[in-house]
Amino acid sequence: MNPSIAPLGRLTSRLSVSLHPVLKLRTKSKTLPSLSSAAAIAAAVFLTAPYPAHAQVPPTYLEPYRPQFHFTPAEHWMNDPNGLVSYQGEHHLFYQYNPFGDVWGFDISWGHAVSTDMVHWQELPVAIPATDTVAIFSGSAVVDTNNTSGFGTPTNPPLVAIYTTQYRIDSVDPNNGSFIPQATQAQNIAFSTDNGRTWTPYAGNPVINPHSDPSVVPTEFRDPKVFWHAPTQRWVMALALSRQRQIRFYASTDLKNWTYLSDFGPANGVNGAWECPDLFELPVEGAPRGTKKWVLIVSINPGGAAGGSAGQYFVGNFDGTRFTADSTIDPSTPPPGVLFQNFEGTSTFSGLAWTATGAFVDQGPVGWGGPTGYLGSQYVDTFFGGDPSEGTAQSPTFKINSKYINLLVGGGNHPHDPRTEAPQPAGVLAFSGADVEPPAPGSTTYQQLGWTATGDLVNQPVATGAIGGQQAVTRFQGTGLINTFANASDQPQGTLASPVFTISKPFINFLIGGGNHPYPGNNDATAVVLRVNGQVVNSATGQENETLNWASFDVSQYIGQQAQIEIVDQNPGGWGHINVDQFLAADSAAVPLSTETAVNLLVGGKVVKSATGQNSGHLVWNAWNVAEFAGQDAQIEIVDKNNGGWGHFLVDDIYFSNVPKGQANWIDHGRDFYAVSSWSNLPDNKRRWIAWMNNWDYANVIPTVPWRSAQTIPRDVGLTLLDGKVQLKQTPIPELLQLRQGSAYRRTGSIPAGTTALPNMGKAFEIVAEFQVSTASEFGFKVRTGPGEETLVGYSVPAGEIFLDRTKSGDVSFSNLFPSRETVPLPAPNGRVKLRIFVDWSSVEIFGGNGTASLTDQIFPNPASEGLALFAKGGNARLVSLQIWPLRSIWNGQ
Ligand code: FRU
Repeated sequence: MNPSIAPLGRLTSRLSVSLHPVLKLRTKSKTLPSLSSAAAIAAAVFLTAPYPAHAQVPPTYLEPYRPQFHFTPAEHWMNDPNGLVSYQGEHHLFYQYNPFGDVWGFDISWGHAVSTDMVHWQELPVAIPATDTVAIFSGSAVVDTNNTSGFGTPTNPPLVAIYTTQYRIDSVDPNNGSFIPQATQAQNIAFSTDNGRTWTPYAGNPVINPHSDPSVVPTEFRDPKVFWHAPTQRWVMALALSRQRQIRFYASTDLKNWTYLSDFGPANGVNGAWECPDLFELPVEGAPRGTKKWVLIVSINPGGAAGGSAGQYFVGNFDGTRFTADSTIDPSTPPPGVLFQNFEGTSTFSGLAWTATGAFVDQGPVGWGGPTGYLGSQYVDTFFGGDPSEGTAQSPTFKINSKYINLLVGGGNHPHDPRTEAPQPAGVLAFSGADVEPPAPGSTTYQQLGWTATGDLVNQPVATGAIGGQQAVTRFQGTGLINTFANASDQPQGTLASPVFTISKPFINFLIGGGNHPYPGNNDATAVVLRVNGQVVNSATGQENETLNWASFDVSQYIGQQAQIEIVDQNPGGWGHINVDQFLAADSAAVPLSTETAVNLLVGGKVVKSATGQNSGHLVWNAWNVAEFAGQDAQIEIVDKNNGGWGHFLVDDIYFSNVPKGQANWIDHGRDFYAVSSWSNLPDNKRRWIAWMNNWDYANVIPTVPWRSAQTIPRDVGLTLLDGKVQLKQTPIPELLQLRQGSAYRRTGSIPAGTTALPNMGKAFEIVAEFQVSTASEFGFKVRTGPGEETLVGYSVPAGEIFLDRTKSGDVSFSNLFPSRETVPLPAPNGRVKLRIFVDWSSVEIFGGNGTASLTDQIFPNPASEGLALFAKGGNARLVSLQIWPLRSIWNGQ
């Protein structure tokens, strides 16, 4: 069956995320139309990184967060690995690279690095640069051994790169000079006869022109992966039709002329764009000798395993023309088990015996049919009165007696943030007038409260909420706030400076909303600026939302010094205003207020499981493993606390089952494993790959300078027959063993309940551990620990899952979508659990068992957080073996 497909966010929407001002200035890329996206709204709500920390310095490979054994370019933005090919003892890694900026942009080109061991990399000049008319998108490279293309000679065969060009928004069809409104992508080739050092685009480009293929309107078709198909003696290309969620196959005998073969999909993960396919054949371990299977790889964004970007795989057969999957998942067949709720037959929550609050009161299931993927005729859509409405609906209490709760979820991507459950720290007003409370509402000016005004803010009355036709301004405290939508317009500009005050506590907490225009920008800021002794030391901006939320400045280093808060509005355009209130001196940072659109499982009044949407009107199955809560009372709660874009949520059928209802076969269950691609031309048909260790949900705002993004460690790929199913497995390449320093720290025996410190292994190390399950319900490691920081890598015995929890891993403030906990199933045969863990300065990669389970996540701990410990919860566990090695850096000649 063909699941109906939800509209996609545009590729360009990734540019609309909030950028740090310094980085923004350095970005040469053309401005794109900014489209509202989840990332734009969610990213950087609490972006309060110290301003001077982003000053540009020459790369040293010793910067905070700089990966020590993962490839990063010295500086600037990187995304997908491209053109992975091995030739004459050299492994090439090309990659999506913006030579002019630290965020993705239309100067995207193919960067280049080479290695002889896939561990140590040498960065080379840009291989295939963007031009004035086209950006160079992802693709692959082959060694044209038989010189089928004629670009080389039989004795010096060419390397041929096959890639997508994306015409810039304002560009024209290269064939006839006409403006291209829609069909903006085409497939091109270039060749090199000097080991990939210089590349010549083919004069007959593009080799696949959108207009030459009338069977689709391929507004987005990209990321060609080409390989030699020996049985048919021709080249085969797999290409993503991103919006159709299909992989299209073509064949060629010369790499220049391509004929259409077939399409695969949509199938399994369809809640996002399909990108970066790969296709190869592998032997199946554990199956009768000689058994081989084809594997089709499809990257999907968003809609991935744990939200945002991820990779899925299909096992099946490729006959030279067509790929057929052995099996696919039918989302319209509910899982076996007990139906808890299908939201049919009533139009109120009270009719279901659910308790509603806020805008959910007197509302309930609807059936207007806009969304897709729901079952029956009704579902919950919290768009009651529009995106701004907020409320909750809570189910009656039930007892958990199944291993899984499967439920259909869609709508806004605003995860439940566990930080919002903490109590708000107490604070005292940081200076007089810091609460912006007029003694007589409406009749007082900001100046009369002690603020010094300039420009259009002179003599403005204190705001008491929305001004004129402004959308509702909410979540400020008391009756007054600063709202620079003065005279009911974005036009007015000016500043408001607080009285000078002495910093008395380590944090200044405040409420902020309004325009997203960081300071200093191009004199177009809408921002809160902190001056200490007259110098700007920090700033914050809004998120294009009239709802205020808490932000904080860490001022611990300035205690006792003279400070001043300045409200800056230099922006007369859209969202050219800022809302602020309640500046408090406090001992700890403010706790953010929930902006979630989520469905939560409550046990003992606490959120123990949660699911959010993917900014899509398409509902998909989510499976909560609830085995550890067996026998306990629980409730399901639908929460909408978001009133910005995609501020509504969709829920349908909820089943209590003993099997999970999944969406896809995920390659890696972490948040930071995307656009995976395998090397071509490796000896002995070896299959190795590498992935971009990032997620489009927040990729543009991760706090690294002067580069952005790393690649994962290379992994050997195999297939294995496990529990009657052919599964993909990944093993870190053996060449990585050379990074182990000295002899391993070793330990065996019982791990008592609680935390057991281990020797400090620095910030880059490898753990190889085998545990024996005992009485503890959870056990594992705390890595990169420090004051208030820890990343948990553990095993849950009742759930039968590995988990990776980065909610307290360090800096998680740059995006609401970053703090997360991921899981991957791993059986424990005879109670044995094997984990291999690679920790680098800003990442964790976990391989469970024989490699069928993997989890990859970035983390940004304080560089001083070097603590390491074992933990066991509710009992003890046993270490059959443990070895830990500090790992050498691949940089600075180590
Ligand atoms: C995947 C992707 C590709 C595209 C490239 C552009 O991350 O969107 O589909 O070719 O990035 O940089």
